Amino acid sequence: MSITLNRFPVLPTSLYSEDSLGRPSASVAGFISGMRSAVLESPTIAACVVVNIVVVYYVVSFLTSKNAIPPVGYPHWLGSYVGAIRFFADSKRMVDEGYQKFKGKFFRLPLWTNWNYIVTKEQCIDEMYHLPDDVLSLRYAAHDELQVPYTMGQQIHDNPYHLPIMRSKLTRHIDVLVAECLDELIRAMDDTFAKKCGDSWKELNSFDAFVGVVARTFNRILVGAPTCRSPEYTEVCKSFAIETAVVGLIINLFPSIVGRLITRLPSLVKRALAHLRPVIAERHSAMAEYGANWADKPNDMLMWLMDAAEGEEREPERLAARILVLNIATINTTAASFVNAVNNLLSHPEYFEPLREEAESAIRAHGWTKQAMNQLVKTDSFLKESSRMNALGTMSFPRKALRDITFSDGTLVPSGNYISSAYSVHYDEEYYPDAATFDGFRHLQDGGAAGGKANNSSGLIRTNARYLIFGHGKYPCVCI
Ligand code: HEM
Repeated sequence: MSITLNRFPVLPTSLYSEDSLGRPSASVAGFISGMRSAVLESPTIAACVVVNIVVVYYVVSFLTSKNAIPPVGYPHWLGSYVGAIRFFADSKRMVDEGYQKFKGKFFRLPLWTNWNYIVTKEQCIDEMYHLPDDVLSLRYAAHDELQVPYTMGQQIHDNPYHLPIMRSKLTRHIDVLVAECLDELIRAMDDTFAKKCGDSWKELNSFDAFVGVVARTFNRILVGAPTCRSPEYTEVCKSFAIETAVVGLIINLFPSIVGRLITRLPSLVKRALAHLRPVIAERHSAMAEYGANWADKPNDMLMWLMDAAEGEEREPERLAARILVLNIATINTTAASFVNAVNNLLSHPEYFEPLREEAESAIRAHGWTKQAMNQLVKTDSFLKESSRMNALGTMSFPRKALRDITFSDGTLVPSGNYISSAYSVHYDEEYYPDAATFDGFRHLQDGGAAGGKANNSSGLIRTNARYLIFGHGKYPCVCI
């Protein structure tokens, strides 16, 4: 059947075809062929058609969506891309809004291609951090979100052998490592502040200054001295730490070919190798001459990696890339936490005296040692309060669901989506009364009133579902 359109004022003539007599005809086939030629001929009509299809798609999928977990942060009928765009600029408010509205449940935040399910119930937070790696994976999420093949190298994803080494060796050698770090920290602070400023006041960017101090201090236990003191080497580490997240984000927005074009991995590894290759070669010849355990064998991450590496991982390029990756985990997190603590101290000078007294008495008794650090219960509480109020980010790094996951409250997270915990727990009045007020001694058992006893269950590094600064569960940060 065909319908003859004698008068059809809306569609331009190019949208319908003509019959053999030259009359406009709107048979389905004619309409489709007319539409195709119109779309091909006019970019404006093509754009209108695309917009209409997208709007219809979103309205239909919004109306027919069966997912009971509420999405947050944008007018839903506009479609999740609007929320994903807002998330770029306004993630904190979106997460806080979801937490206020849905505390005790899950809510969803839109990503470009799927969803991040945000968990807020204490029991479910605990469950999330204890799920096995083949069910919920930080590694697979980092692979996608940080574009690991381009930013760090596929081998970091395939063979993360550095993680068990760090977990075991850092704990086993903690006393020696603390002593090394303290030694380097004092030198780095001297060079960065005392020598640069002398007796006069000088303006410095605190984050830049501390990033330099931290990079040098941690590289003392990553690659040893004097490499850690080379400004060119620490510059490479800083660039790598800062650029990786940015480059990962950019690559995520475009097809993967962009990754090959903009990655800086090969050039940064090359610059790091200029410093690390001679160190690696020297250690290889010592090993060849004196065997696996020679008298003054270095005790640092590079050496532990060299001892454990197999096959291609023994190549200097691979070792250098892995050392750079470890810099990502350490530099920005530690420097930002330290700068936040210093800023909080400057805004609350009433803490100067008690913290100074505590430090002087501990150092008098134990010197600059780990035992002295264990005495610093007020400092511990102060640092914990600082990190509670200035969490790095708005939620935990996402984890990827590798299969459908059902939590104990019945929530189903479909495979392929992400799950995070909201850092809004740190501002929750139920967990931290008067949560918006900085109370440096709130984590001491007696609030500091009777000399301040450490509250072991709530120290800086005691993670729980209400305090997630260092992660929680099976694999919290290796530094704790
Ligand atoms: C104040 C400073 C730091 C903060 C706030 C911090 C925070 C974190 C967080 C939140 C995680 C992710 C845990 C998770 O979601 O499961 C993490 C992981 C990690 N951190 Fe830290 N970190 C800090 C310093 C360090 C330092 C100094 C090191 C090295 C000695 C380090 C090495 C790592 C490593 C290797 C991981 C990955 C652990 C794994 O996947 O098993 N971090 N850190």
